[in-house]
Amino acid sequence: MNYNTIISSSEKIDEKITLIGWVNSVRHHSKVSFCDLRDKSSKIQVVFTGSELLEKINSVSVESVVEISGKIVKRKDNLTNPEQTLGHIELFAESINIVSLSEVMPFPIDDDTRKIDEKVRMQYRYLDLRSKRMQKNIRTRHNAVLFLRNYYSENGFIEIETPQLTKGTPEGAREFIVPSRIHKGTFFVLPQSPQQFKQLLMVGGMERYFQVARCFRDEDQRQDRQPEFTQWDIEMSFVDEDDIMQMVEKSIISLVEKVFPDKIIAKTPFPRITHTESMEKYGNDKPEMRKEKDENTLAFCWVTQFPLFEKADTKTGVASAHHPFTMPLKKDIDKLKKEPLSVRSTAFDLVLNGYEIGSGSVRIHDAVLQKEIFSTLGLTESEIEEKFGHMLKAFSFGVPPHGGVGLGLDRLLSLIIGEDNIREVIAFPKTGEARDLLMGAPNSLPDEILRQAGIEKIDKD
Ligand code: AMO
Repeated sequence: MNYNTIISSSEKIDEKITLIGWVNSVRHHSKVSFCDLRDKSSKIQVVFTGSELLEKINSVSVESVVEISGKIVKRKDNLTNPEQTLGHIELFAESINIVSLSEVMPFPIDDDTRKIDEKVRMQYRYLDLRSKRMQKNIRTRHNAVLFLRNYYSENGFIEIETPQLTKGTPEGAREFIVPSRIHKGTFFVLPQSPQQFKQLLMVGGMERYFQVARCFRDEDQRQDRQPEFTQWDIEMSFVDEDDIMQMVEKSIISLVEKVFPDKIIAKTPFPRITHTESMEKYGNDKPEMRKEKDENTLAFCWVTQFPLFEKADTKTGVASAHHPFTMPLKKDIDKLKKEPLSVRSTAFDLVLNGYEIGSGSVRIHDAVLQKEIFSTLGLTESEIEEKFGHMLKAFSFGVPPHGGVGLGLDRLLSLIIGEDNIREVIAFPKTGEARDLLMGAPNSLPDEILRQAGIEKIDKD
C-alpha cells in the first residue's frame, strides 16, 4: 500500500496527498465537518465541505478506518492549535474511502484508559492499545528492549533462547505443568526462569549470555506480579559479584540516559547496602532511598549478602532464600553444617524506589559443594540424582566460575515509566484474577483432547 504517514503531511503543504488512519473524532456543523484522523505517527484535522463529502463523513463512526485524499493547507495564524504537533495545518478533503466501519466503542479511546473497568479493558485490549498512553508504553518498551539488546551485544553477550517445555527448577513458586501426549502420564513444566539452562550455557563455553526470557509462575497476583512475565536474563563466566553488578549498573544508567532522558537517577554509583544493614536501618530488604516521592527520580540500590537459607517448614527446617545454586560467602562456608541459617551468600537484589526489580548471584560451580547444599535442604541422594543429576554431571567437566542476574523487565519498565501496575507495560496481560479475558483462557477442553493428553478431569480440589 502506498500511503503517507500523517506526520509527513507537514512537509507536503499545498500538495495533494492521501492519508489513511482512524477517525479519532468528528465534529459536524451545518456546512462543514471536521474530523481528526490518527495513525501511529500523529493526528491531523481534516475539513469536509460539499454535500457529497458531508454525507459520507456524517455516516462514519468514530474509530472507523478511512482513506482520505485532498490538499494539505496551512491554517490561518488565529486558527492554529498549538497543542497539536500538526495544529498549524489541515487536510482539505476531496474524496473519502471508508475502509472499515467501526461499531460503537465499548469505552472511549482517550489518552488515558486506566479509569475504565479492568474487565472491559482486558476483554477489548486491542482497543485499549489504541489509547495514547498504551501506544506510548508499548513503544517505549520496544525502545528499551532494543537498547538493552544492542548494549549487551556490544559488550560481548549473545542472545540465546532456552526451552519453554522443560523440567521444574526450584525458584520458590508453584509451576505450570504441561502434559505430554507422547509419553502419557508424564509432564513438562514451564520455566520459572532459565536458571539452570543459563548455567549450562556457561558450562557450554558461551561465556556471556542474555535473553528476553519469558517466565511462568503459578502464584497469587499482585500489582507487580503476572503469571507470565519477562526477565532481562543474563549470565557471565569468570566473574565475581562486583563484575555482575557493575555490568548491570552501567547498562541501566545508559538505558535511562538514552531512552528515559527526563528521568533522574538519584545516586551513582548505585548505593550498596548489605542485607543485615538494610534490615537494621529500614526494617526491610527493599529500601526506599528517595527522600521525597518524586516520580521522575529513580533511586536504585543494591542489597547484598542475602542469607543463603531461610527458616522453612521442611525436613531440615531450612529452604533456599534465593535458589539452591547460589554460592555461599567463602568466609561462611564452614558454618554450613552447624548453623546454616547464619550463612550469608553472594546473592544480591537490585531495588528501585522500594521495589525489588532483580536478583542475582555468583553460582556454585563445584559438584561437592552443590551436593552439600542439596542435602542441607533435606534432599536424599536419590532425590538429588533424580532432580539435579544433570547439573552435577555437567559440573564434572571443567566449569568456569559464573554468575548472573534476572531483572524483572515488566517491573523495571513500569517503575521507570511511573505506572503502578505492570500490566500497563505488557501488551496482553492477565487480569488480577489470572485470566485472559480477551481469548477466554483458561477454559475447559473437550474430553477427547483431555483423553489424548492422558488427563482425567476432577471438578473439586
Ligand atoms: P527471581 O525469582 O528473584 O530470580 O526473579 C527475578 C526478578 O523477576 C521479577 N519477577 C516477577 N515479575 C513479574 N511477575 C512475577 N510473577 C515475577 N516474579 C519475579 C522480579 C524479580 O526480582 N533465576 C533468578 C535470577 C538469577 O539468579 O539470575 C530469578 O528468577 O523483578
